[in-house]
Amino acid sequence: MHRRPPRILAVGLTTTFLLGGGAVAGVPAANAATYMDTKKPVRERVEALLKRMSLDEKIGQMTQPERGAVTGDDITRYRIGSVLSGGGSTPTPNTPVAWADMTDGFQRQALATPLKVPLIYGVDAVHGHNNVVGATIFPHNIGLGATRDPGLVRKIGRATAEEVTGTGPDWTFAPCVCVARNDRWGRTYESFGEVPELPSAMSTIVDGFQGRRLDGPASILATAKHYVGDGGTTGGVDQGDTQISEAELRRIHLPPFRAAVRRGVGSVMISFNSWNGVKLHGHRYLITDVLKRELGFSGFVISDWNGIDQIDGQPGFTPAEVTTAINAGLDMIMVPNDWKRFIDTLRAEVQAGRVPMARIDDANRRILTKKFELGLFERPFADRRYLATVGSAEHRALARHAAAKSQVLLKNERGVLPLKRNNNKIFVAGKSADDIGNQTGGWTITWQGSSGDITPGTTILQGIRQNAGRNTTVTYDKEGDGIDRSYKAAIAVVGELPYAEFMGDRPGAMGLDEADLATIAKLRASGVPVIVVLVSGRPLDIAAELPKWNALLEAWLPGTEGRGVADVLFGLTRPTGKLPVTWMRSADQQPINRGDGKAPLFPFGYGLTYRR
Ligand code: GLC
Repeated sequence: MHRRPPRILAVGLTTTFLLGGGAVAGVPAANAATYMDTKKPVRERVEALLKRMSLDEKIGQMTQPERGAVTGDDITRYRIGSVLSGGGSTPTPNTPVAWADMTDGFQRQALATPLKVPLIYGVDAVHGHNNVVGATIFPHNIGLGATRDPGLVRKIGRATAEEVTGTGPDWTFAPCVCVARNDRWGRTYESFGEVPELPSAMSTIVDGFQGRRLDGPASILATAKHYVGDGGTTGGVDQGDTQISEAELRRIHLPPFRAAVRRGVGSVMISFNSWNGVKLHGHRYLITDVLKRELGFSGFVISDWNGIDQIDGQPGFTPAEVTTAINAGLDMIMVPNDWKRFIDTLRAEVQAGRVPMARIDDANRRILTKKFELGLFERPFADRRYLATVGSAEHRALARHAAAKSQVLLKNERGVLPLKRNNNKIFVAGKSADDIGNQTGGWTITWQGSSGDITPGTTILQGIRQNAGRNTTVTYDKEGDGIDRSYKAAIAVVGELPYAEFMGDRPGAMGLDEADLATIAKLRASGVPVIVVLVSGRPLDIAAELPKWNALLEAWLPGTEGRGVADVLFGLTRPTGKLPVTWMRSADQQPINRGDGKAPLFPFGYGLTYRR
C-alpha cells in the first residue's frame, strides 16, 4: 500500500492557479515567478524550484518507469520525472504521430502536478530512431567506426535527433562509447571499435544529438554508456566481470567518457558489468570520485535497466541496494516495473538517514538543470514540425552514404570487384540479400531485431538491381539454386541473424552457419567467381573458407539503406572502410586486439580499395 504523496502545503503568499505557465498553484508567487522565468539563470531557477519540492517530488524526479508499467494518473500522483520506452516498447499503431501523441499524453499528466515539472522521455535511438517503423536506420556503430569519419557521425546524430524530436522523446540512450575488446561479446556491434581513440573520436555524435544548445531546434539529451568497462569483460561475457587493473581501465575504457564529458554529454548510463568483482551500479569511487569529480561530469547519472537489482547478486532490489546505488552517485533509477516499491524504499532510506538529503538534492539539481537547459519547461511537447523528417529522403540519402563508407573490402582476387554495371549477368544468393531485418540487426523495431520485412528500406538485393545498368541481368535465389556457368559473378550475402546484448554472446564457434556455407558451396560449384558479402555485427571465423572465395566485403549491419552496399559492389563508391576491430585468424585467439602480439587474419585498420 503506497501513501499518497503529501499535498503541497502552500506557505506565505500563494497565488491562484493561472493556466498556461506563469504562477503555479500552491507555490508562493516569488518562487513560482523565478523558476518559471526564462530570464533567470538556470542555476537560480533550479534552486527556486528545489526549495518548493517535497521529498516525494524529489524522489519522483529520480524515478524512471517503463511506459508499459505506468499510467498517466500514476505520473501525476507519484510526481514521476521520466519515462522510457524499452527496446521495442512502442505505441499501437507504431507510427510517428502515435509516438508524438503518446509522449504528449504522458507530458500532460506530468504538467498536471502542482509544480508542473515536465517529464523527460528516453528511448534507445542507437542507430536512428530505431523503435519507430519508417524511421531511417543508420549503420550500427561498428560500421561507423570503419568510416573513420567523425563529421559523418555528427550528421547522423543530428538526423536522428530530428526524427526523435518530431515523435516526442527528448533523450536518447546513446552513444554507446564502449571499447569492444572481445568479439564474442553480443554488443560488439554497438562499439565504434577496439581502441579508445575510435569511440573518443566518434563522440561527435553527442554534438549531433545535443546541437549547439540543448534548447536549440531538435536538440535531444545524449547518454554516454555504459560506464565503465562493459567491453572488457573476461570472455566477452555481457554483464560479466572486467578483471583488469585500474591502469588498464583508465587507459582503454575511460577515455571515450572523458571525450563525451568534454563535449557536454548530458547523461551517463552505468553499465551492468563488474570491475574486479564489484558491480558498477554500486561503485562510488568510479561514479562519484572519477566520473563526477575527476572528469567533471555535471549532468546526471542513470542506472541501466533494473541495474540496481544486481548489486548484491540476488534478483530484486533491497533497501541496502537502493542506498548503495544512490550514495554511489546514481541520480535517476531506471526501474521499469517495480517503481512504486523503489519510491517507498528510497523515501524510507532517506527518512532513516541512510541516504542524505544532500544527495537527493544533488541528484535533483543535476536532473532539473538538464530539463531547464533543454527548454522543457517552455516547450514540453513534441515538436511536430520534425515529423516530416522521419524516414525522409534526405536522411535516407545520408544513411546510404554512411552504409557505403562503412564497407570494408577484405579480399578482391584479380579485381573481380567492382562489378560492371552494363552488359553483365549477376547471380545473388544468401539469407541476408533481401532481408531488411537482417541488414539492420538488433535494436530495430524490437529489442532483439528480427529477420523479414520489418520496416521500409532498400535491401542489398534491391540496391544491386537499382545499380545494374543496360543489358544486365540480376537473378536471385536465397539458397543459390539455379546458378550456372552463364553468370559472370555470384554474390552470397550471408552472416549473422539479428541479436542484442547477452543474446548475441558467442562463447563457442564464431563461424558461418551451415546454411550459409551450403549456399556459398553451391555458387562455387558452378565455377562462377564468388563474392561474399558478410552482414554481421563482428568479425567471424572464416579463415578456412576465405581461400575459396574470390572476394570478401564486410558490410557490418548497414541499416535500411542497403543500396550503399551495392554502391561499393559496383564502384559507384570506392571502398574506403578500415577495420575498427582486429579480425581473428581463429576464434580461440579471442580476445585479439591491436598490439597484443597475436597474428590476426586481418589487422586493425586493414581495408582494400579499387585500383581505378
Ligand atoms: C538495456 C541496455 C541499455 C539500454 C537500456 C534501456 O538493457 O543495456 O543499453 O539503454 O536497457 O533500453
